[in-house]
Amino acid sequence: MKTLILAAGKGTRMKSNIPKVLHKLSGKPMIKWVVETAGKLSREVGVVLGFGADQVKRVLPEWVKVFIQEEQLGTAHAVMCARDFLDPNDDVIILYGDVPLISVDTLRRMIEEHKKGADVTILVADVDTPDGYGRVVFERGKYRIIEEADLPEDMKDLKTVNTGFYVFSGDFLLNILPKIKNNNAKREYYLTDAINLAESVRVVETNDILEITGVNTRKTLIWLEEQLRKRKIEELLEEGVTILDPNTTYIHYSVKIGMDTIIYPMTFVEGETEIGEGCEIGPMTRIVDCKIGNNVKITRSECVKSFIENGVSVGPFARLREGTILKKSSKIGNFVEIKKSTIGEGTKAQHLSYIGDAYVGSNVNIGAGTITCNYDGKKKNPTFIEDEAFIGSNTSLVAPVRIGKGALVGAGSVINRDVPPYSLGLGRARQIVKEGWVLKRKEE
Ligand code: UD1
Ligand code: CA
Repeated sequence: MKTLILAAGKGTRMKSNIPKVLHKLSGKPMIKWVVETAGKLSREVGVVLGFGADQVKRVLPEWVKVFIQEEQLGTAHAVMCARDFLDPNDDVIILYGDVPLISVDTLRRMIEEHKKGADVTILVADVDTPDGYGRVVFERGKYRIIEEADLPEDMKDLKTVNTGFYVFSGDFLLNILPKIKNNNAKREYYLTDAINLAESVRVVETNDILEITGVNTRKTLIWLEEQLRKRKIEELLEEGVTILDPNTTYIHYSVKIGMDTIIYPMTFVEGETEIGEGCEIGPMTRIVDCKIGNNVKITRSECVKSFIENGVSVGPFARLREGTILKKSSKIGNFVEIKKSTIGEGTKAQHLSYIGDAYVGSNVNIGAGTITCNYDGKKKNPTFIEDEAFIGSNTSLVAPVRIGKGALVGAGSVINRDVPPYSLGLGRARQIVKEGWVLKRKEE
């Protein structure tokens, strides 16, 4: 079984410099949805590219075979461009780069049906507004497809449409392709003509409109986005996740969330994020590509590409950037930014800090306003803070620097030399007190 994905079209109606199939649905380029679905059926996947082929290629896995259609002369011509991919002894499924939600289940049903023996098996659907689709008619014991542009007036309200998905027998397809002509309204080589020239056609039906919806405009794209978002939220509710306000919650389809987690309003959970059980997320939080354990609390914060272990609390108003690791039960409070750093078990950074390129041990206290000065103008340098150290408020740790186990850094210090374990590090001007100085000045 092979799969061929047609994706050469420009997508003029998207009004975009980006190839149509790279526009994202639920955070993922449309073509990737289709390639992933195809990959679940077999590893023999071909893609026909044209407009913006180089850009599209970059998002494809390297095991996908790419064929180029220089000029878009129609769907049959597109398949012709991938002739070398076809095998007379193997069936081929035709998919589209701009119909992203076709399901593995439906394709499997088509494959099963096709095994009963046919030149081609087509997927049809009954839709309320068939405009733009080719219509499927049953005449003289045979199925036939009539393109919308060639449809006689009295057939316009036929509601059974050609979804465009087919399983072809390889030998039939290879035989028929050279015989297809472009003598039609659009002067294109129609793949539908292959069906009309077939001896035996089998039909499979779907009633899931989402899986057959092709994207030609941004309006359709956001319609699909909204439908998919609703579907995801329903699935999560079903699985025991509380989503307090589905209207303001955006969760990508790829996200996984455990039981008894509560998602508060105005929250975005994106990409390859996984959230464990019993967490409280939001309100007003954005989480992208994070792995989050159980019983974690994140409020009004932004977290990107971070790992968060059980029992951690984040926010309000924290920012976790890529490469942040928060170990068990650590606490990150308001206006704390963390980047490429590990924060040990039970460690607290509760207020107004920047921690970058740092390795912080367990049960450390990071005082309000602590800054790791990780950038010397040329490169990033690491800061090490060992277990149980105490960093006084408003401290600048000039990296590279190491604060030893159990050491104490006095508030307001600028630390640019290592502080050994269990030692006091103090780096600030000694305070002066002049008693009665203000009164004396007034007298003068
Ligand atoms: C096609 C079907 C129609 C069906 C509809 C479902 C044909 C002739 N008609 O019509 O019966 O109801 O899909 O959506 O097949 N493409 C290429 N190269 C080309 C032309 C198209 O790669 O030269 C790709 C496009 O990028 C697109 C897909 O094939 O993804 C469909 O092409 P399009 O021209 O949009 O066909 P429809 O008019 O929608
Ligand atoms: Ca189309």
